[in-house]
Amino acid sequence: MSDYRISRLEVENFKSLVDFRMDLVKFTCLVGLNGSGKSTVLQFVDFLSELMRGNLSEWLMERQWSANDLCFWDESSKLIRFLVEITDIEGRHAGIWKGEFNTLLLKCEREELVFGDTKFKVFDNKFEASHTQKSYDITMDYEGSLLSKVRDPFLPEPVKRFRDFFRGSRTLELLSPRLMRQRTKGPSETIGRGGERLSAYLHDLLPEKRHAIESELKRVYPHFQKLATRELEPDVRVLEIVEDFQGKQFKTEARHLNDGLLRILAMITNSVSDAGLLVFDEIENGINPELVEFVINLLVETEQQVIVTTHSPMILNYLDDEVAKSGVIYLYKTNEGFTRSILFFSIPSLQKKLELMGPGEAFVDTNLLELFQEIDGLIKGEK
Ligand SMILES: Nc1ncnc2c1ncn2[C@@H]1O[C@H](COP(=O)(O)OP(=O)(O)O)[C@@H](O)[C@H]1O
Ligand SMILES: [Mg+2]
Repeated sequence: MSDYRISRLEVENFKSLVDFRMDLVKFTCLVGLNGSGKSTVLQFVDFLSELMRGNLSEWLMERQWSANDLCFWDESSKLIRFLVEITDIEGRHAGIWKGEFNTLLLKCEREELVFGDTKFKVFDNKFEASHTQKSYDITMDYEGSLLSKVRDPFLPEPVKRFRDFFRGSRTLELLSPRLMRQRTKGPSETIGRGGERLSAYLHDLLPEKRHAIESELKRVYPHFQKLATRELEPDVRVLEIVEDFQGKQFKTEARHLNDGLLRILAMITNSVSDAGLLVFDEIENGINPELVEFVINLLVETEQQVIVTTHSPMILNYLDDEVAKSGVIYLYKTNEGFTRSILFFSIPSLQKKLELMGPGEAFVDTNLLELFQEIDGLIKGEK
């Protein structure tokens, strides 16, 4: 399990994230109108993970993006600057990662990681690590962060753990039941951003992990018995599900399974994985209202840090007031097209509503278009 959590993000020039700041907690839920930048924030978190994996060209290709798409529309600078603040799982400050990503070269030309006395720095084509007290010329090609390439002996322990926290994060931002029905070539270490490698991933999973997934699934699907995967031909894996109806067992291949079950299976699978950070876009999509509570409890109770987005006020009704107060973030766009974040229940009108109603009811009772006026007033008042 992971050692770290992201507590703050600051971004300059990643799509609509211009001069953007956001605090995060263990369970963070982003809400806001269409186009306010919810998916963009998840994409940015995934981008950070990819910096540590070092395959930016592949990452762009998977999304069918070009490097040009990464910056704000009319910004002439091709640099993305960011700062990530990290705490340990108790919430104590652990470290900071600052970087400058050049979208023309697909790499961070400057970086600085500071964990207490431990430092790692990249600048002027050199890197420096405090424990070796030397600087080294960078002679290798790399994409993303230099940390994706530097070998372990050159890295201080906290920096390695930090790199692995990001490398291990799982984003289901492109989750699609259509992709999850695919037969896949294995092996695979993750289920993929769209769930496209689910069958290969489950095929090689340790039995105890598989049982953990099965027992969660049984809680929501009473007929569900077990997961079965098989190899069709060398390397091609299919997922099947065994269900029991009146003592008779039936096997169904993934391509005949319903969307909701596949989505829940993807969420459960990631929640029992070793990842320290899980990201899901529009969690309520395709899931029966009866099962939403299960999904929320799963994600709030897991030890991993979780970031989700939702359009559904119902989701908020399943959150305790304290979780909602600290973790629901409202995203909106300024007139210039920049995404901004504000703690939803810190807005005075919502604070008041929360005294009388549940978080979801307070959300339903709010006209998001009018909310912008109130926030605008708050900001002008601060100035
Ligand atoms: N390169 C860019 N620069 C600035 N804004 C962008 C860029 N690309 C997309 N956008 C804006 O972001 C919006 C999409 O944001 P998104 O995060 O998908 O919204 P949602 O909150 O609905 O998930 C687009 O409608 C567009 O307005
Ligand atoms: Mg979206």
